[in-house]
Amino acid sequence: MAKAYAGIVGIGAYVPEKRLTNHDLEKMVDTSDEWIRTRTGIVERRIVEGDIATSDLAVPAAKAALLDAGIGVDDVDLILATTSTPDMIFPSTACLIQKKLGIKNCAAFDLQAACTGFVYGLAVASQFIETGMYKTVLLIGADAFTKHINWKDRGTCILFGDGAGAVVLQQVEEGYGVLGSYLDADGKGSDLLKIPAGGSLQPGNEFTVKNGLHYVQMNGNEVFKFAVRILPEAATKVLNEVGLSIDDVDYLIPHQANMRIITAAAERLGIKQEKIAVNIEMYGNTSTASIPLALNDLYKSNRIKKGDILLFVGFGAGLTWGANVVKWAIKGD
Ligand code: ACO
Repeated sequence: MAKAYAGIVGIGAYVPEKRLTNHDLEKMVDTSDEWIRTRTGIVERRIVEGDIATSDLAVPAAKAALLDAGIGVDDVDLILATTSTPDMIFPSTACLIQKKLGIKNCAAFDLQAACTGFVYGLAVASQFIETGMYKTVLLIGADAFTKHINWKDRGTCILFGDGAGAVVLQQVEEGYGVLGSYLDADGKGSDLLKIPAGGSLQPGNEFTVKNGLHYVQMNGNEVFKFAVRILPEAATKVLNEVGLSIDDVDYLIPHQANMRIITAAAERLGIKQEKIAVNIEMYGNTSTASIPLALNDLYKSNRIKKGDILLFVGFGAGLTWGANVVKWAIKGD
C-alpha cells in the first residue's frame, strides 16, 4: 500500500482578551518594561480571568480551525489535546473539548510534553492519518499557564501568557504534509521546570499551598542554556532525517519562550531573521500554544504558499524537545 501523507488542512487560534503589559507588571513586582523587553522580547501577554480554563481557550481555536478546513464537527475522528495545564487531572481536557464542541463520537485524549506538546502532538497525530486509522484529526495546543503562576515571583510571572492553537489534519497529496518528526527527552532535567504539587506525589493540601508548591518553579538560567543548545540541534536532526538543509526552509517556527533564545539559535543555524516566525512580543510564552499561534499569524498574513517548507521546533519541561518538517499543502488565496 502506498504511504499516505498527513497534512495540515485548517488552522485556528484563540487568545483571551485581557492584556497584561510589562507596565502592568511593574506595579506588581520589582521589574521594568526595559528589563523584560531586553531580556525576553515580551511586551505584553494575554491572560485568562475568573473561571476560564484551558478547554475554553481550546474550543474557539478548534472551531476556527474546523471552519478554515471547511469541516463539520462530526467529521472529527480524534481530538488530541496537548496541554500541561489541563482543566482537571481527569477527565482529559480533550473529552471536555469534545463535550463543548458537541461531538457525539470520536476518540479523545491528552498528550503532555509541556512546551514541546504541539511538536509531539503533530508527530503522533500525523501517524494516525498515515496508518489509515483516522481520516480527520483535530490537534490542539492549549495552555493557561498564568493560572499556575506566583505573581510575586518576578523570575517567572513576566514570561507566560495564555492561548490556544488548533490544526486539522487529513491526508494530503503525495510528498506534502508532515515529512518527518524528531522527538527527544531527558528526564534528568525534570527538576529544572515544574509544578511540584497537585499530582499523586504531593496532592494539593494546606502544606503545599502554604509553601507555594502549586506554582511554576523554574531554573531560568539552566533552561535558557538548554534551549539555546537544543533548538539548533533538534532542527538539524529533523532536517537530516528528511534529507533537507536549513537553506531549504522557508519558515522556522520556534517555540516562543525568549527572543534571545530564538536569536541565538538562528545564528547557530545560519537562518535569516525574516524567515523566522516571531510573535512573542504580543503573547509571551504560551507553552504548547506558541507554535500553532505563530503558525496561525503567519498563515493569516498570507505569507505561506503551497509547497513552502516549514520547520517547527519546540523545547520545554521534562526536559523535552523535538521538531517537525512540514511541506505546506494548503493552496493560498
Ligand atoms: N525583572 C528585573 N530583574 C529580574 C527579573 C525581572 N523580572 N527576573 C530576574 N531578575 C534579576 C535577577 O534577580 C538577577 O539579579 P541579580 O544579578 O541581582 O541576582 C538578574 O536579573 C539576572 O537574572 P537571570 O536569571 O540571570 O536573568 P536572565 O538573563 O537569565 O533572564 C530569564 C531570566 C528571562 C528567565 C531567562 O533565564 C530565560 O528566559 N530562561 C528560559 C526560560 C524558559 O524558556 N522557560 C520556559 C521553557 S518552556 C516550558 O516548558 C514551560
